[in-house]
Formats: sequence, structure tokens, C-alpha cells
Amino acid sequence: MSGVADSGCTIKWHHGPRAELRDLFELAEDSREQLDGYIDLGQVIVALDATGEIVGHLQLIPTSRDDVTEIKSLAVREGFRRRGVGRQLVERAVAECRGNQVGEVTVATAAADIDNLRFYQRCGFRPESVVQDAFTPATGYPPHLSVDGIPVRDSIRFTIALEARSAHTSLGHNDTNETRSRHMVTKGLIVRLEAKAGREDDLAAFLHGALPLVQEEPQTVAWFAVRSAASSFAIVDVFPDDEGRQAHLDGAVAAALVERANELLAESPAIEHVDVLAAKLP
Ligand SMILES: CC(C)(COP(=O)(O)OP(=O)(O)OC[C@H]1O[C@@H](n2cnc3c(N)ncnc32)[C@H](O)[C@@H]1OP(=O)(O)O)[C@@H](O)C(=O)NCCC(=O)NCCS
Repeated sequence: MSGVADSGCTIKWHHGPRAELRDLFELAEDSREQLDGYIDLGQVIVALDATGEIVGHLQLIPTSRDDVTEIKSLAVREGFRRRGVGRQLVERAVAECRGNQVGEVTVATAAADIDNLRFYQRCGFRPESVVQDAFTPATGYPPHLSVDGIPVRDSIRFTIALEARSAHTSLGHNDTNETRSRHMVTKGLIVRLEAKAGREDDLAAFLHGALPLVQEEPQTVAWFAVRSAASSFAIVDVFPDDEGRQAHLDGAVAAALVERANELLAESPAIEHVDVLAAKLP
């Protein structure tokens, strides 16, 4: 973190509509068509200044590879750049991914943008591959884009490996204590579900189907759907902190359960908030 002053910004998950962040997304994307295709995907972390105004964002999306997460969009408002906000957002994203057992974080950026190439490498990312003509009218970009006289044509993909993390591949931190704290879980939920007569298998299927939604939640460190009797089920899950637990309660699985509760459940779910005293995680 040498040379990076404290930005004074707070970094947190964004749970509001994506549309309110569109101008920030547009700072990082010249193609409206491309942006429409991904703005609602994955999860977003935001940076808030002292007044609570959102001054930067970072979008994390899953990829076709289970253990790889992509930084799809990142931007900091012009008046707030070069204060360490961008780096703070990347550090938080990488930490969340590590806490969620992600093996690699990847990001693609225009080869023409030397500042971005520098930024990601200073954050510990390493170049992986080049895609020529990624930014052309055929892919939804305006013609003749350029940065500092370099035509915007090709993209460079960077990655940071998390599994074999060592001091020199980290974001400049010592590995030991930080890594341990990222894996720590302190809060949990035990949610008991009683199926309506005749709807037991449907409830089981619903719980199976919830897994991909949970896999998109970086702060849901471990999640289990269990069956303890023919009609009795439970969800047990753990989180690094209250914020992670709240994000899950505000997330897609809870919303889907509320939507289908009348149809599948004999009674309202019994939700117990618990503190984790000890844990063994993979
Ligand atoms: C790329 C981007 C997100 C970086 O955000 P940022 O908040 O400016 O980044 P940071 O401040 O964390 O780091 C940038 C540099 O400013 C330096 N900096 C930080 N605080 C500083 C300060 N108080 N004074 C001077 N420089 C400072 C950082 O040290 C870093 O340089 P370094 O690597 O030499 O240390 C931002 O430039 C942006 O939004 N660009 C437009 C959108 C875009 O291109 N997004 C990426 C598409 S993939």
C-alpha cells in the first residue's frame, strides 16, 4: 500500500438497484450494448465518501469456471481518483473472493489504457492473454476510440491467483494473519422449514435449486440445506460478520423462499440468528 493515503471512503456491498450506478458503470464501458448485457449480473461493491455519496464501484461476476470470478466493471468518479479508492475496491473484492474459496480473480481491460495496465499490475494482477479486436463496432463499440493516441482495439486479461497466494503475489500484505481473518466466520443462521403435506419433494427440489444463487454470494462462506425428517428441512449457513449475514437475508434465496412460502411451507420459516463459537472450514 505504499504511497496510498487513506481515502476516507467506506467500502460496502451495494444492495440497491443497479440503474442508480449506471453513470459509474459508463465510466468503465464505452458500449451501451455491452453494458446492458451485464449491468445486472453478479454483485457490486461500492465506495462511499464521508457524506455517504457513492463515488466508486466494482462489479464481481461468476465465470464459466467455478473457481474463477471476474471483475467486470470498476470505476471511481473523477474528483475522487488517485486517493486509493480504486485500490481499496480491488482489495475488498479480492478479499471477498478469497473468503469464498475462489481460486482466481480475472479482469480484462483495454490494452490502449496504459494507466489501467499499471493500476492492475500495481494491485498484484499479472497479464494472462490478449484478445485482438475486442473493442470494435462489431462488438458494440463506437469506431475510432483512442486513449492517449493509442487506438482502443485489443483487450488484455489479467489474473491474480489466490490459492497459491504468497507474500509476493498478494496486494502487498503479509499473508498470515490477513488470510486467517478472511476465512473466519462469526455469524450464522439456522432456518427451519416444515414442508406442506405432499410438497416435501418440491421443497427438497427448491433447496437444491437454491445452490447456484448462494454460490454467487461471496460472504456466504458455508451453506447447507439439510433434511432431518420426511417433512422437516433446515438451512444452516455461516458468514464472516453481520453484514455478510444481512446480505444473505436480503439476497436471492430469501426472496425466492418468501415468494414460494405459501405454496411449499406448512408454517413460516423459523429463523434463528446464531454466533459461531468454533468452525472447521475446508
Ligand atoms: C482505474 C480507476 C478505477 C483507478 O481508481 P483510483 O481510485 O484512481 O485508483 P487508486 O487511487 O487506488 O490508485 C491509482 C494511483 O493513484 C495513487 N494515489 C493514491 N492516493 C494518492 C494520493 N493521495 N496522491 C497521489 N496519488 C495517489 C495510487 O498510489 C496509485 O498509484 P500507485 O500505483 O503508484 O500507487 C480509475 O482511474 C477509473 O475510474 N478510471 C475510469 C474507469 C476505468 O477505466 N475503469 C477500469 C476499466 S477495467
